[in-house]
Amino acid sequence: MHIQFALNRKAIEIEVDADATLLELLRDQLGLFGAKHGCETGECGACAVLIDGVPVNTCVMLAPQVDGRDVNTIEALGEHPELGWRDSQGLHPIQQAFVETGAIQCGYCTPAMILAANALLERVSHPSEQQVREALAGVLCRCTGYLKPVQAVLRAAAVLRGEHVEPIEGPIPAPPELLADFEGQPEADGFQPSSPDLLTRTAIMPRIQVAPREAPWQVVGKPEPKVDAIKLAQGKPAFAADIEMRGMLVAKVLHSPLAHARIKHIDATEARALPGVAAVLTWEDIPRVVYSTAGQSDPIPGPLDTFSLDYKVRFVGDRVAFVAAETEAIAAKALELIKVEYEPLPAILDFEKALEEGATQIHDEPEYINFADSDPSRNLAAEIRIDIGDVEEGFKEADMVVEGTYKVPKVQQAHIEPHVVVTYWDEDDRLVIRTSTQVPFHVRRQLAPVLGLPPKRIRVVKPRIGGGFGGKQEVLIEDVAAHLTIATGRPVRFEYSRAEEFFASRSRHPMRIRMKTGVKRDGTITANEMYILSDTGAYGCHALTVTGNTGHKSMALYVGDGPYRKAPNIRFYADVVYSNRPPSGAYRGYGVPQGFWAVERHMERVARKVEMDPLDFRIKNTLRAGELQPFSTAWSEGREPRPETINTCGLEDCIHQGAAVIGWGDKFGNKSWREVPNAPHLRRGIGVAAVMQGTAIPYLDMGGASIKINDDGSFNLLVGATDLGTGSDTVLAQQAAEVLGVPVEDVVVYSSDTDFTPFDKGAYASSTTYISGAAVVRAAQQVAERIRIRAARMLSQERGKPIEAEDIRLADRSAWTPDGDSVTLVEVALNALHHEDQEQIMGVASYMSPVSPPPFAAQFAEVTVDIETGQVRVDKLVMAVDAGVIVNPLTASGQVEGGMTQALGYAVSEEMQYDEHGRPRETDFRDYHIFAANEMPALETIFIETYEPSHPFGVKAVAEIPMDGVAPAVGNAVLDACGADLETIPMTPERIWEVLKGGDS
Ligand code: FES
Ligand code: FES
Repeated sequence: MHIQFALNRKAIEIEVDADATLLELLRDQLGLFGAKHGCETGECGACAVLIDGVPVNTCVMLAPQVDGRDVNTIEALGEHPELGWRDSQGLHPIQQAFVETGAIQCGYCTPAMILAANALLERVSHPSEQQVREALAGVLCRCTGYLKPVQAVLRAAAVLRGEHVEPIEGPIPAPPELLADFEGQPEADGFQPSSPDLLTRTAIMPRIQVAPREAPWQVVGKPEPKVDAIKLAQGKPAFAADIEMRGMLVAKVLHSPLAHARIKHIDATEARALPGVAAVLTWEDIPRVVYSTAGQSDPIPGPLDTFSLDYKVRFVGDRVAFVAAETEAIAAKALELIKVEYEPLPAILDFEKALEEGATQIHDEPEYINFADSDPSRNLAAEIRIDIGDVEEGFKEADMVVEGTYKVPKVQQAHIEPHVVVTYWDEDDRLVIRTSTQVPFHVRRQLAPVLGLPPKRIRVVKPRIGGGFGGKQEVLIEDVAAHLTIATGRPVRFEYSRAEEFFASRSRHPMRIRMKTGVKRDGTITANEMYILSDTGAYGCHALTVTGNTGHKSMALYVGDGPYRKAPNIRFYADVVYSNRPPSGAYRGYGVPQGFWAVERHMERVARKVEMDPLDFRIKNTLRAGELQPFSTAWSEGREPRPETINTCGLEDCIHQGAAVIGWGDKFGNKSWREVPNAPHLRRGIGVAAVMQGTAIPYLDMGGASIKINDDGSFNLLVGATDLGTGSDTVLAQQAAEVLGVPVEDVVVYSSDTDFTPFDKGAYASSTTYISGAAVVRAAQQVAERIRIRAARMLSQERGKPIEAEDIRLADRSAWTPDGDSVTLVEVALNALHHEDQEQIMGVASYMSPVSPPPFAAQFAEVTVDIETGQVRVDKLVMAVDAGVIVNPLTASGQVEGGMTQALGYAVSEEMQYDEHGRPRETDFRDYHIFAANEMPALETIFIETYEPSHPFGVKAVAEIPMDGVAPAVGNAVLDACGADLETIPMTPERIWEVLKGGDS
């Protein structure tokens, strides 16, 4: 069809297919990549553009429908302020505000959010916060918690009205005495509302109780805008799918309709004969190589039980065949033409039956390779048995023993960018894999044998990533495209649909967790025991390590008091079983949120049993600085455990400050506050959870970095670390800039490419700021040393007197003597590269940590429960966290806000369910609800800094811990509100109602 329309203020005419979507027209035909693919059903909003000034989801609009219309995409809004030739004034105020406020994390939703905001501000110059939230509600964001995007739009509105906005500066020191009095004060730190009716509920900048520094830092600790924010605000083609390649094929996978079956016969003849089909691959066509899809260091700490394609399928959604075709429609047609004859096998759909006598064996392939205590004959992917102290003796010493069983569901990471990969042969016949992954180096190592190529003939490129949350710590789809490129010799793009994300991706392990705790009447814990039955699904990826972490973190927090502090009694047993449901895997928190749902609900029960205040009970029994991490001598992700002492622990302060901010003293146990005036069916409640996480895996995780100076005094920082939207590129650049005495803008970060950047184990285990950061600091110190030596020589020659290198200080883009003489870094760089005794000043370093210093946090929730319907509304979440020194308060608080929001879904709404045939009930964002901007509670972040001595800037980690305590804090608040003592999440109205009526949860 021939259509005409206005695109970004220019008239265009173009031929389109009648059934092409507007998203396909924009991305595939016009090369405008600002509109993103996040689903196919019009629910995520990532594909939105403005049509006649109104946001429209282009994935559900046909291209011919724009005939005669006015279409505006993010590409026309504003350009880089330093672009030489440009059509605009630079960034639009909305883009600028998104950059400044930290509203951009992965940036995948950002173009659509900015356009939605633009449409609002064109109509309403003075929007309320609620109007902004309604305007953004059509765009789902899995990273931010929406707080900073809302703030950005309000800030942009003020700018567009010509008002002055305060610069965003920080950190905001908040000593305990101020925080304790905080309740009731205006919430205007950092962001000053420009008029009284523009009240926002929270400040851009979190409150920070600052750890003492040896000397004030210039860059570390400052709210620097993210180094990639400007390109993401412009919708630049930064992501894996944002690439045009001549002759690129589209891949699709045929998935199993059965939960467990043998493929008796498969015939792809008709599919191969279909015009436009380039290749069809079945298990008969590719080498049979057993591997694990878990993206982990060598050796993989789990069983090898997976094949690219197999003669057996083990869940609804398992792979049966791969197709590559000229178009998506042809590939879809080819899938229909593949004839498969299945021999159905009995399926295990209830993981609690997997260990039963006579249960069908899910992995009977002879190639299966055990790890540790895996035993496929019993459907056992991993077994853990840890005894610390003498638990039975501890129970004998207790005055009472409290028991409970808790359940957690299977939930989805739901990053808005699906898994996506592009593969092609380069001119040297090396296979290039451009993929949205958290673990580029593991992808190369693990796929090489699967593809039959030596690793050196594979190059993995990681562009920007549209969120990962552990879902992309999996070598999940790269082999599909790679096999098809090898088979066809052509570039191949493979991208999961949203439905595939739900039925053929990874998810959080569902678990049944039994707790048993011995306690004395004074509240001293004498013994604590946890037994977990964990469902790894059809494959054992991350089976051992996720479930091991559940105990390693959640059970380590409670050691008891008095003599028990030195010699706690803890038992942690777990069986991780196979079932015929989609595989579980890594998901932000890596097993720890499951553990804390059980531990913190259970501790609430124990505290109430001994009639202690929940805060006092937690302070009395939890781990403190100077004590041994009790699990450190017992377990270490399948490696040799080594003792580790906790250097820093701000948990007690977190509990006090969080309590002050949420008003614990006035609300907890206060009957008159609990009741809502004029609403007899409503009850308010308040709850708390104490949590800890880890920072990297000791003696295992390693990151590398290289830094070189350029002849303008700027630096290139190359890291193998993977920024998923967390801001890790920015905090790494800040650490380099601090050492080198330059602003962040002088550090150009590139990550990551297995050909060019140093090795890094990837983004997981909350390790990047700490591990990769330490590597960056080391590399920067090497560079700084070379600069000091050269600067001392230059200044000595110039001044005619000797100047020692160790007396030189780097600051303000210059090298300074104690007397105040200086040479600029430009002069040093020109001298080094062009003038005298030439050298490339550069540093390369790596870092592996012998410790994993835990961050700690207190999480609080305030809820309102409708006792007639069971409906719970979460009104406020507060998190006070000790994550060590905060390198960037904007990115760190963004992590907390986004993590709390994800965890809120875990608490009250998210659950993947299956029918009696193992077919998924949730395959889109309609059925699987994640929070939208207009559904959010108030969020508050407080950083209680400690100075972790094992890191040059005292940092620990913040990425995962926000996931851990929201569900139990909400559960405890529900208990406080109405007496419903929930054991199972999500806390749906049905479950709460059942418990209120006296049933099981
Ligand atoms: S709404 Fe169009 S991609 Fe999700
Ligand atoms: S920043 Fe919104 S989805 Fe990542």
